[in-house]
Amino acid sequence: MIQPILNMGDPRLLERSQAVQRFGSEELLALIGDLHETMVAAKGAGLAAPQIGVGLRVVIFGFEHNQRYPDAEPVPYTELVNPVITPLADEKEEDWEGCLSVPGLRGMVPRFSRVRYTGFDPQGRPIDREASGFHARVVQHECDHLDGVLYPMRMRDMRTLGFTSVLFPGVETPDE
Ligand code: NI
Repeated sequence: MIQPILNMGDPRLLERSQAVQRFGSEELLALIGDLHETMVAAKGAGLAAPQIGVGLRVVIFGFEHNQRYPDAEPVPYTELVNPVITPLADEKEEDWEGCLSVPGLRGMVPRFSRVRYTGFDPQGRPIDREASGFHARVVQHECDHLDGVLYPMRMRDMRTLGFTSVLFPGVETPDE
């Protein structure tokens, strides 16, 4: 079912989420289903369980083409449980980010340019990937939600925070 997305200001977005203890359970699969439906309905590039009020270490992300990020390269659709991110380079790059919990805004956020991420799919099968570019950015953004971190907390220059409609006039960014 499509769930309401919590907005910044809700204290649940600032909590550290708990690890999933049991894979393949009905509860976990229902949560993944809710996340997927909610992300698709919001046309998001990713969604983390705490954004729908569930304090578990579960994120989903990925798209072929995303209206909210029309220039981003495709990212494989992934359901990731208990993720761990390891940077593969010291270097960070800055780029625009938005968040379904921070509607209408974008800001420049530094992220590691290359990462390895590991974790499990909902059935408990291991996932182990390397990612760069927008893929790496999305994973870091979504996993931050599991530690109660929203992208404005990562920004170096708050002057770049602005409304999408002002920063990118004429670009259609639905559901923000
Ligand atoms: Ni977000």
